[in-house]
Amino acid sequence: MIKRIVAIVVSVLCAVVALPQLARAEPALPPVVDGRTVSYDGDSMIIDGKREYIYAAEYHYFRDPSPGVWRDKLEKVRAGGYNAVSLYVAWNQVSARAGEFDWSGVRDLGAVIDYAGELGLFVIVRPGPFIGAETSAGGLPGWIKASEDPGRGATRTMLDAGREYLASVDEIIAPRQWQFGGPVIGYQVDNEYCRDNLQREPDRAYMAAMVDQVTEDGITVPLTANNCGTWDDLVDISGKDTYPIGWDCKAPQGRVPDLFEDFWDFKPGTPRYMVEYQGGMFDYWGGGGYANCTERYVDGKAEIALRNVALASGYTMQGIYMAVGGTNWGWSASPPLYTSYDYGAGVPEDRVLPAKYYESKARAYFMSTFAPLRRTDPAPAPAVTDADVRVEARRNPETGTQFNFVHHRGDWNARADRSVRVTVPTRTGERTIPAEGTPELRVGPRESRTVLTDYIFGSGDGGNPGAELAYTTSDLMVDAPGRGRGRLGVLYGTKGDAGQTVLRYRGTRQPKVSVDGGEVSTTWDRATGELRLDYRHDGVATVTIDGGGYRDLTLVIADSERAQRFWVLPADDGPLVIEGPDLVRSATLSAGRLTLTGDTTGAGRTVTVHGRAASATAITWNGDGIRAGAELPAPAELALPELTDWRRSPVDPQTAPGFDDSGWVRADRTTTNYQVVPQTPVSLYADDYGFHTGDIFYRGRFSTDRIPTRLDLTAHFSSDGSGGDYSVWLNGVFLGSHGTTGQQNAVEKSFAIPAGTVRPNRPNVLAIQLQGQGQYQLTIPGRWKVPIGISKVALSGRSGALNPAIDWRLQGNAGGEDHADRTRGPLNNGGLWGEQQGWGLPGFDDSAWRPAQVPNDDQRTPGVTWYRTTATLDVPDGLDASIGLTITEPSAGVHRRALIFVNGWQLGRYVADTGPQRTFPIPRGILDENGENTIAIASWNTDATTGGIGEVSFTELGRANSPLEVPLVDSPGR
Ligand code: GAL
Repeated sequence: MIKRIVAIVVSVLCAVVALPQLARAEPALPPVVDGRTVSYDGDSMIIDGKREYIYAAEYHYFRDPSPGVWRDKLEKVRAGGYNAVSLYVAWNQVSARAGEFDWSGVRDLGAVIDYAGELGLFVIVRPGPFIGAETSAGGLPGWIKASEDPGRGATRTMLDAGREYLASVDEIIAPRQWQFGGPVIGYQVDNEYCRDNLQREPDRAYMAAMVDQVTEDGITVPLTANNCGTWDDLVDISGKDTYPIGWDCKAPQGRVPDLFEDFWDFKPGTPRYMVEYQGGMFDYWGGGGYANCTERYVDGKAEIALRNVALASGYTMQGIYMAVGGTNWGWSASPPLYTSYDYGAGVPEDRVLPAKYYESKARAYFMSTFAPLRRTDPAPAPAVTDADVRVEARRNPETGTQFNFVHHRGDWNARADRSVRVTVPTRTGERTIPAEGTPELRVGPRESRTVLTDYIFGSGDGGNPGAELAYTTSDLMVDAPGRGRGRLGVLYGTKGDAGQTVLRYRGTRQPKVSVDGGEVSTTWDRATGELRLDYRHDGVATVTIDGGGYRDLTLVIADSERAQRFWVLPADDGPLVIEGPDLVRSATLSAGRLTLTGDTTGAGRTVTVHGRAASATAITWNGDGIRAGAELPAPAELALPELTDWRRSPVDPQTAPGFDDSGWVRADRTTTNYQVVPQTPVSLYADDYGFHTGDIFYRGRFSTDRIPTRLDLTAHFSSDGSGGDYSVWLNGVFLGSHGTTGQQNAVEKSFAIPAGTVRPNRPNVLAIQLQGQGQYQLTIPGRWKVPIGISKVALSGRSGALNPAIDWRLQGNAGGEDHADRTRGPLNNGGLWGEQQGWGLPGFDDSAWRPAQVPNDDQRTPGVTWYRTTATLDVPDGLDASIGLTITEPSAGVHRRALIFVNGWQLGRYVADTGPQRTFPIPRGILDENGENTIAIASWNTDATTGGIGEVSFTELGRANSPLEVPLVDSPGR
């Protein structure tokens, strides 16, 4: 049994004291741009002297290995109403070994930040060092995990390496801070290093050192933390994360949460920041699938209800996790997760916008544009006529505008609608809303509405006042500049629901009202100067109100379905409002010309312009002149080729007794830093030999004078090792496979050795293929340092234990920490024989392989066989196609695992009998849409009953006519 190095507190403290000071040069930073400032107070962030509501989309650009896709997703984020993006950075993607950083190509953080800046999005960076995010080891490189450090904290490796990493990432971030003209307005240090989040007591010296480093690197925008309030003295703005619906696409929890008042006390004088707020949920091996999450649980209604609870709780900063889905390509995921990290997000992994994006974006426009929301105080809860409905209120102390949030109190999946009136104090006294004698306000299950009182249109952005809103039972999407000097208000409500809006005028002269496109009745009360509009939300009604002592006001009242086709785009002189297309990526109005770019996903789409945009004398759509109301081009048809002409490799030769493994790494380490004490004379933990990803192969030679009849193995797949598996051969004879079924640290299995497999006093070879699924992500002592590999190998015969000396060699990804594929980075490949040989890469000459039928049922030999083909695509110009690769099994329950490579990029980890993922989106940019693509599938039969591979086909996931251009990603081959 080998010695285990235990890191004890004393040695840790010594290490801290002995740390060398890193020699530092002053960071070279650009000149400060006049007027560019970032600050905050107890209400909100203040940027260039102006309050802002920060509505941030969490985006993991490292989950999209295609910079053109970054731009697409960020444009969809902006069009969806977000004004900010929150960016985690994954250290393990850029640092294959200590001291090495590669920020090029698909790792180009600077390019993502710059794209966001070009789109006018604020950026909050969250570079770690630790991030979590269901990434392997929470984003920490494998070599840190293999070090003597017991977990995250002020230990030598973590401190030195963490500082060095931050110094490297800060060279990219620091010059992109707001004051230098960049978009970065906030910087989160580490993640969830908390007292109350399953972590051990966090180590102040670690957090302080990270803050120190960031400061030395010239970061002066507010430092933030997702830290449960633990380090209020070290950072500027402390925040928290909240996932009220939990993480289970099969059985989520569900009710509108209560106000977030009592979680902990926020740091006084800082805005309330929900660093991460549920926008979907992750799914795991054997889980319910993301469609279930998106459509049934974190749908559009849930999004609105959750956002409203945060508004009602006074949050002026919300980061939606995940607002954008991505792909756990390569070996980037933590063990429980499969390849997709779609997360049921509004902007999904495959970029095809789902219903929830359309349903919830109106709320986002309101949050990012409506000025009175940026500063609110709690107000007494208005009375409501039904106890199953909850009303919370906040009021802007400067304008008196009150937000009355009306939520259905019941279970998330309750059926019954409620109809209520609320009694709200207003500037002109207490009033009942809607007015007695008119239809009540309906609130359906998981619905949440906002009754707005006392607001002057145009007051928020210094525009011309355009009438005073006494109240509205419709939701406000946006208050924007109107035509001429007037204002535009866009209101919406569930299709068929009654709505009531009351405007207050200064004089007693009735303003002139004209209605276009709907039934809106008006009631003028001369005594109070109030104009009441009553209507049903049905289609779009445009109400123009002239006179009455204010600028003209146009109210566009849309039903919930039509509202989904409204787009509010930020522009210099206030938001532009466009109706009709399936996506408006950008809108500018200059010298009477309205320049629009965007997508259509079907025929019959038109552009309607509202407010200021309606003053345009010329409109262009994707560069072509159009008239308002004219039909836009529809997407072209897409013909996807069938995948034929497959070739099949020989079965993995590494299992054969005579295979030459002399180039492999000798297992000779007699110490390990892992917490599971090996029962083998040398460590067989992959990370101890610099192999941190994917499959590991072991070959052990032994000789014995007695015949073994049984082999007992204990394997480890990191903590939470769901999805791991291994197969065993002895002298080329397949003994079996065994995998994990849940959160097991150790997986034990006894294999029978058939008679005749081992000959006495002759060399024998044990071959083991073991596939981990990434490293456990949380740095919890006792769980974090659970290895990937083997801790026990015991041979026994009829007379008991045999303990022959076994000479072990092992092999992981080509090059180990000096990984071979510099373009695709350290996490793309594991240690399959085919990966070593470049069988996944374009250009590999497979002409010597035999032609194969797919689906293929005749290859039943256990082990890994590769299937390769090429496919030439011809996607028409102007078509943005989202294409996936689907595996369909001939029969249920086959025991096959597969890795899917497209042009050398590992984009799918497939486990046939576990699922749920069977379709793997291929990012645009990786797929050559007008050229040849190499598809390679490494199919691992974990038993002898499984055939070679199921049916493999391209799947069209979505199609749009679009100006999007996605450059090809460099995909070097053989
Ligand atoms: C949070 C964590 C994120 C992510 C999320 C769940 O607690 O900060 O990194 O893991 O949970 O998806």
